[in-house]
Amino acid sequence: MDHALKFPLLLILLLFHLDFTTVSANSISHTNFGHCEKIVKKWASSSSQDLQVNENKHNLRDLLFFLHVPRTGGRTYFHCFLKKLYSRSLECPRSYDELRFDPSTRNCRLLATHDDYSFISKLPKEKTSVVTILRDPSERVLSTYEFSIEVAARFLVHPNLTSATRMAGRIRSKNKQVSTLDIWPWKYLVPWMREDLFARRDARKIGISNHQRWNNSYDMEDFVMPLHEYINDPVARDIIHNGATFQVAGLTNNSYLPESHEVRHCVQRYQSLGAYVLEVAKRRLDDMLYVGLTEQHRESATLFGDVVGSQVISQLIELSSQMEHAYFNKTEQRPSFSTSSHGSSHHGNSSINKKESGLASLIHQETNETMTVEDLMETYETCISTLRKSHATRRAASLKHISPANFSKEARRQILDTVLQQIISLNRLDVELYKHAQEIFAKQQKYASQKMVASGMRESILYYSDGVPLWKVISLATSLFLLVFLVFLFVNARRRTMKIKV
Ligand SMILES: *[C@@H]1O[C@H](CO)[C@@H](O)[C@H](O)[C@H]1NC(C)=O
Ligand SMILES: *[C@@H]1O[C@H](CO)[C@@H](O)[C@H](O)[C@H]1NC(C)=O
Ligand SMILES: *[C@@H]1O[C@H](CO)[C@@H](O)[C@H](O)[C@H]1NC(C)=O
Ligand SMILES: *[C@@H]1O[C@H](CO)[C@@H](O)[C@H](O)[C@H]1NC(C)=O
Ligand SMILES: *[C@@H]1O[C@H](CO)[C@@H](O)[C@H](O)[C@H]1NC(C)=O
Ligand SMILES: *[C@@H]1O[C@H](CO)[C@@H](O)[C@H](O)[C@H]1NC(C)=O
Ligand SMILES: *[C@@H]1O[C@H](CO)[C@@H](O)[C@H](O)[C@H]1NC(C)=O
Repeated sequence: MDHALKFPLLLILLLFHLDFTTVSANSISHTNFGHCEKIVKKWASSSSQDLQVNENKHNLRDLLFFLHVPRTGGRTYFHCFLKKLYSRSLECPRSYDELRFDPSTRNCRLLATHDDYSFISKLPKEKTSVVTILRDPSERVLSTYEFSIEVAARFLVHPNLTSATRMAGRIRSKNKQVSTLDIWPWKYLVPWMREDLFARRDARKIGISNHQRWNNSYDMEDFVMPLHEYINDPVARDIIHNGATFQVAGLTNNSYLPESHEVRHCVQRYQSLGAYVLEVAKRRLDDMLYVGLTEQHRESATLFGDVVGSQVISQLIELSSQMEHAYFNKTEQRPSFSTSSHGSSHHGNSSINKKESGLASLIHQETNETMTVEDLMETYETCISTLRKSHATRRAASLKHISPANFSKEARRQILDTVLQQIISLNRLDVELYKHAQEIFAKQQKYASQKMVASGMRESILYYSDGVPLWKVISLATSLFLLVFLVFLFVNARRRTMKIKV
């Protein structure tokens, strides 16, 4: 190699080296507090910009976005309320059982998902009402631990991990159903636990065991990852702890916002920065149409029926009649079509018309116009008891595979206090957010009962009974009174004249 070539080569190498050192210097500065504070503050101020106090947050808008925080009992709301109200054609793509895009659902009305608040950037924000349910943070973490193990343990019917994962993949590609393993956060937590369960089983087979006395299901390392180990794992730290706050803030590991990951990592690193995130999350909760509490299940369900259910019912009835009108107006304008004897969808021949009429009749068919809030609550009650029974059966069958470990209310009493304390301290933001949600819930209940009293009173002012308007009652009463008074005057006058005569 001659010298003329050597020199530029050296120069290039030198430049590369320089470049590399600046890059690594940069990544160090990413982790320092000043930098973190700057980006968290920037995120917080841009997030609060679109938060204005919303005057009519109590009114349901066109789209209902159910921000489903995992392990809050949201599934029962989805299956037993929302699914009873909305037809499938009104469900948006990316709802968790509709992960694949279906263009016919562009005018969708319901989005139920584990995706975080940042998904709203893909929705018409001013036309969207958000609802959510929050749960006591320790309960939520314990439930996440138990559920990820429960789902993973189902795979223990297989002889080894390879065959378990292969089979799971085959089943998923065969029937197009959405499985728990497609959905965040389970798509990370379940494979993690699955691998762990198989490793522990393999170790037992070759006789590696601590032979500890098995009296605490949350600390049986021969069978499952102990709780204290689970909550301290980097995966749990990123996905589970303060999960409700990050989800409402739109900062989860699954966020659509590109800068969210850096913001989240900064907040996880420097506790004091959590205050900014908490503030945004609180304001977002304030803005929601409904906030439920897992712990107050009955009250939450009732409030859901009164606040959300009733508005959905009237909105869908209106939508259905609008679509019907639009459809008949169109066909009326086209007097030349040949009257087909087979169903309405054969009338128009343009594809748009066909699609619209199809959708109209679908919505019309599937919208239950006789549904009332009372019916809804009744349907809900039977639906959840069925759902709970099938969940319990499934859970028991799955947990058999990890016996003697078993998760139950009694077993939870064995969890050490130090572990529970640690869960609380790892979820400080969620603890604060949950307190705020409890305050909101109390306010909502007050507002709903005031509204009911007010509407009840308005009715009793305007209507007397059996729908007879009060003004009629009043005018009738006035006329009667006048009549009686006149009669009285008349009788009196006659009496007087008679007295004079006598
Ligand atoms: C896993 O199980 C399958 C099915 O029994 C078997 O064919 C395969 O050889 C096993 N693999 C390993 C690594 O043991
Ligand atoms: C469970 O085991 C621990 C130590 O292994 C022991 O300290 C504790 O008393 C045991 N509890 C019960 C209820 O047996
Ligand atoms: C989310 O978490 C999972 C599991 O820890 C990880 O594999 C994945 O890379 C994370 N994604 C982001 C965007 O941080
Ligand atoms: C359909 O026509 C009726 C009266 O003919 C009208 O009141 C209604 O607004 C129309 N609806 C639409 C969606 O065009
Ligand atoms: C639709 O109807 C128009 C007349 O109304 C006709 O000219 C056209 O060929 C029809 N198209 C199809 C696909 O039937
Ligand atoms: C509509 O709701 C009522 C009351 O819940 C129920 O009895 C009826 O079966 C429902 N009809 C349809 C078509 O779902
Ligand atoms: C686990 O506990 C539940 C409730 O205590 C019980 O019904 C069930 O039989 C137990 N399962 C096993 C495998 O021990």
